[in-house]
Amino acid sequence: MSIPQPAHPTTDKRWKLIDLVMQRHDHRPDALIETLHAAQDAFGFLDPETLHYIAARLNLPPSRVYGVTTFYNHFDTKPKGDHTLVVCTGTACHVKGNDRILTWAQERYGLKPGETTRDNRLSLVEVRCVGACALAPVILTDNSLTGKTSFAETTAIIEEWLPHGP
Ligand code: FES
Repeated sequence: MSIPQPAHPTTDKRWKLIDLVMQRHDHRPDALIETLHAAQDAFGFLDPETLHYIAARLNLPPSRVYGVTTFYNHFDTKPKGDHTLVVCTGTACHVKGNDRILTWAQERYGLKPGETTRDNRLSLVEVRCVGACALAPVILTDNSLTGKTSFAETTAIIEEWLPHGP
């Protein structure tokens, strides 16, 4: 008899990528660090719902998952900036021109992926495939996924957030 699995915290397709990492390790507890990396790469940060889901799937106490997450500086438990732009640079999104968005954001705001503007208004995150390749090029603006966006549409969203630049 199979044990019922916890539901994904949201309907976001990126959960499938995180599930794949855990499946590859047969949901063993020693998959924790790799799973946390995958979740942070997919979402940009690790919120409580994500940590609880991973704990349940790896059959670990949530306290252990929280402990590991806070021990390593690499993991972020919340987005640092008021706004977060996540740019997917997986193959499909790369081919459809997302590198141009990334370059634009880096030059316009003086940010590298993983950095936040000094006034904490914008964080830039680069991820490799969020599992929505049919919608390429994909960006996430404050966790809202937008696909098939033109360069002008994407930059307009960001300019609306920060009309005067950095
Ligand atoms: S490459 Fe961007 S969603 Fe898959």
